[in-house]
Amino acid sequence: MDLGIRGRTAIVCASSQGLGRACAQALAEAGVVLVINGRHRSQLDQTAAEIRASTGAEVTAVVADVATPEGQAALLAACPAPDILINNNGGPPLRNFRELNRQALLDGVTNNMVTPIELIQKVIDSMTARGFGRIVNITSSSVKMPLVGLDLSSGARAGLTAFISGVARSVADKNVTINNMLPGSFDTARLRSNLSAAAKRTHVTEADAVARSMANIPAKRFGTPAEFGQTCAFLCSVHAGFITAQNILLDGGAYPAAF
Ligand SMILES: NC(=O)c1ccc[n+]([C@@H]2O[C@H](COP(=O)([O-])OP(=O)(O)OC[C@H]3O[C@@H](n4cnc5c(N)ncnc54)[C@H](OP(=O)(O)O)[C@@H]3O)[C@@H](O)[C@H]2O)c1
Repeated sequence: MDLGIRGRTAIVCASSQGLGRACAQALAEAGVVLVINGRHRSQLDQTAAEIRASTGAEVTAVVADVATPEGQAALLAACPAPDILINNNGGPPLRNFRELNRQALLDGVTNNMVTPIELIQKVIDSMTARGFGRIVNITSSSVKMPLVGLDLSSGARAGLTAFISGVARSVADKNVTINNMLPGSFDTARLRSNLSAAAKRTHVTEADAVARSMANIPAKRFGTPAEFGQTCAFLCSVHAGFITAQNILLDGGAYPAAF
C-alpha cells in the first residue's frame, strides 16, 4: 500500500533501537525524510547507516537526550517543522512504588509525560498551518492494565493520554492527528532486560521467564518491532486522517476485555 507520505519529514525520538527504530525504519520505507535520535553516538550512527542502506532514505542522526530542553532544541534545529512526530523515550526502571523518592517520581513524569507534551507544543502550529500532521506517542499497555513494578510508567503515560485527548480534538479539523500506541510485550532490549531482572528476582532461568511470559499472551509469542513500526507508519499515512485521539493496543490479545 502506498502510504502517501513520500517526501514528508519526521522526527522519531529515541529511535536508535527497539520500537522507535522500527517506526523510523517503516517511515523510511514509505519515503519519509527522517531525523532519528538516541543518546549514544555509535549505536545511533550505525542505525542511521542501516536505515539509509536498506531504504535509500535521507536520515539525520541527532545525538541528544530528548527529555532535556537542549536535546529538544537539537532535534528541532535538525527539522524545525516536521510533518510527523513520533514521541518515544526510555521507560522508568522496574521498581516497587515504595522505593520511588520525589526525584524519581518527577523524572518519570518528565520523561514520559512532560517531554512528549513539550515537543507537541513546539511542532503543532506548523502542522495546522500546513494542513497535515501526524503525531504518535508510544505509551504502554500498562496505561490500561497495571504491570507489577511499572506504576510510574502507567501513571505518567496515563497523564499524557488524558492531556492529549483534548488537544487532539482541537486540531482534528486541520488534518492533524494525535494517537497513542500501547505496546504489550515486544521483543526489544528493554523487554529482555526486564525479563532478566524478573528471572533473578524469582530465582528462575531467563529462558523460563521468557517462556512464562509468552504463555500469558494469547498469541503465545512476543510482538516483533517490525509489526509495531508498520502500524505506526499506517497511523502516519494519508489513509489514517480520520483516526485521532485513539489508543491502539498491540498486545497479542493479552488485555482481557471485550472493549
Ligand atoms: N518493548 C516492550 O515490550 C514495551 C512495552 C511497553 C512499553 N514500552 C515502552 O516503549 C518505549 C520504547 O521501548 P523499547 O522496548 O523500544 O526500548 P529499548 O529497546 O530500550 O530502546 C530504547 C531507545 O530509546 C533511546 N533512548 C532512551 N532514553 C533516551 C533519551 N532520554 N533520549 C533519547 N533517546 C533515548 C535508546 O537509545 P540510547 O540508550 O542510546 O539513548 C534506544 O534507542 C519505552 O518507553 C518502553 O517503556 C516497551
